[in-house]
Amino acid sequence: MSYILGIETSCDETAAAVLKDGRHLLSGIVGYQWEIHNRYGGIVPELACRRHIEVIYPITEEAVKKADITLNNLTAIAVTSGPGLIGALLVGVSFAKSLSYALKIPLISVNHLEGHLWAISLEKRVQRPFIGLVVSGGHTNLYIVEDIGRYQLIGSTFDDAAGEAFDKVAKVLGLGYPGGPAIERCAASGDPKAIAFPRALSKKKGFDFSFSGIKTAVISYVRDRYAISHVDEIPDVLKGEERVKADIAAGFQQAVVDILVSKTINAACETGINRVVISGGVACNRLLRKEMDLQTQKHKIKVYVPGPKYCTDNAGMIAWLGYKYYKKGIFADLRLNPDAQSSIG
Ligand code: KG4
Ligand code: ZN
Repeated sequence: MSYILGIETSCDETAAAVLKDGRHLLSGIVGYQWEIHNRYGGIVPELACRRHIEVIYPITEEAVKKADITLNNLTAIAVTSGPGLIGALLVGVSFAKSLSYALKIPLISVNHLEGHLWAISLEKRVQRPFIGLVVSGGHTNLYIVEDIGRYQLIGSTFDDAAGEAFDKVAKVLGLGYPGGPAIERCAASGDPKAIAFPRALSKKKGFDFSFSGIKTAVISYVRDRYAISHVDEIPDVLKGEERVKADIAAGFQQAVVDILVSKTINAACETGINRVVISGGVACNRLLRKEMDLQTQKHKIKVYVPGPKYCTDNAGMIAWLGYKYYKKGIFADLRLNPDAQSSIG
């Protein structure tokens, strides 16, 4: 019998989970920090670290308690060591190291992107190889996933990640943080065809993305329509203009979704791999899930998307990989340092 504790603190979620025998997720606790960062319209790294420090132990305790075990029952500790915010990662890694030392159990280092790619495994088995799209606040990466530890990066973003574009546009429109769910809510009453925002690189070969241009297009649209001189005026100028705001959100969301869907389908068609896994916070987006379903069906591609709680940052996915590395005997030691830029493939 094995109990793996997963710890995840790469960004603004503090998460702990206990996985039994590599299959049964006994608990998964996530502490969100939205109320802290909301008024700044984005994550403030220093504040994120401070909150991680405050809650990491209570959240771990809660996860262990909910799993109906004690710390002494743990077999190993898996922790996200990168990529992410360096200070935030440092809290999780230092905590995991201390616990591994105190309990005399192995420490396992897990890459956050790898965690997202395999999060689906908490719910179902996917045959390998598959095309993996990680679409989050920090990354928009397309991979050929051959197996655990074997990845080929075939596309990524030249500038902003898709989630980052959602967050930045939400900030510009004064919708608050996190931007993805806020844009999705606002877009619900808008017409996605009312304003045509650019779909960068959509005609270009290859699987790379670019999202910074859409944010600029949103700003230009409002500037031209209302003759404002500074972006900070936008939330005020859009007060009472709910219809316009909803059309902007809907047009923006449609443009991002169209690009993500078409590049992912191209990747599956060109590689001949007819299985696609989507993960990361943006994979919660209902339009993306719907369009991906529709378009993959047309191309006879099978698509897998985890439930929303496994799309956003969570420690279950870290514990799942932790178990795999535990079985392979791949361990870290107390010299483990976080790496803000670490990559896979
Ligand atoms: O994977 P994640 O929780 O953290 C990172 O690794 O970055 O992703 C967070 C990102 C944020 O940018 C957030 O705005 C976006 O995912 N997101 C969404 C939705 N829910 C979260 N984007 C679009 N639609 C959503 N419903
Ligand atoms: Zn993430």
